[in-house]
Amino acid sequence: MSNILITYTSMTGHNEKIAKHLEEYLKGKGADVTLEQLVDSDAFDLPDYDAVIVGSYTYHEGELPDEAQDFYEDLEDVDLDRTKFAVFGSSSKGHIHYGRAVDYFTMQLNSSNGDQAADSVKINGEVEPDDLKRIETMADYVLKSLE
Ligand SMILES: Cc1cc2nc3c(=O)[nH]c(=O)nc-3n(C[C@H](O)[C@H](O)[C@H](O)COP(=O)(O)O)c2cc1C
Repeated sequence: MSNILITYTSMTGHNEKIAKHLEEYLKGKGADVTLEQLVDSDAFDLPDYDAVIVGSYTYHEGELPDEAQDFYEDLEDVDLDRTKFAVFGSSSKGHIHYGRAVDYFTMQLNSSNGDQAADSVKINGEVEPDDLKRIETMADYVLKSLE
C-alpha cells in the first residue's frame, strides 16, 4: 500500500478543505494517508514516504506564510532521494504574485532531489467543484507514479 503524506497550511480554510478532500480521495483509492499541518511536519521525515503532497496559501505579497518558513528552510538540507511529490495551493488572483508559495515549494522540492509526479495546482480563492476535479487529477498522477 502506498504511504502518502499530505502536509498543508491554511489560514481561512481553503487549503484545509483541499487537503481533507485529497485525504478522502486517496484513502478511497487504497492509499495509506497521513494528514498533517506544515508547522507539525518534519522536513527530514519526507523521504520516509512514497509520496508527499504539500499545500500552502501565499501571503505577504508573494511570500510563504510565516508558519511555513521553518519547514521550507529545513527542506533545503533534505535529500528527498527521488521521493514523489506534488504541490497545491489556494491563493488569490487579486494579488500580483498569484500562488507564489506553490512556485517556491515546487522549486525547492525539485532542488531537494524530489521527483515531481504531477503539475502543481493553483486555485483562486474559494474551492469550486472544478477545482476539486483538478486536485483529483493531480492525485491520480501521484498514484500512477507509484505503480
Ligand atoms: C494579507 C494577505 C496577503 C496575501 N498575499 C497574497 C499573494 O501575494 N499572492 C496570492 O496569490 N494570494 C495572496 N493572498 C491570498 C491568500 O493566499 C488566499 O486568500 C488563500 O485562499 C488563503 O488560503 P487559506 O483559506 O487556506 O488560508 C493574501 C491574503 C492576505 C490576507
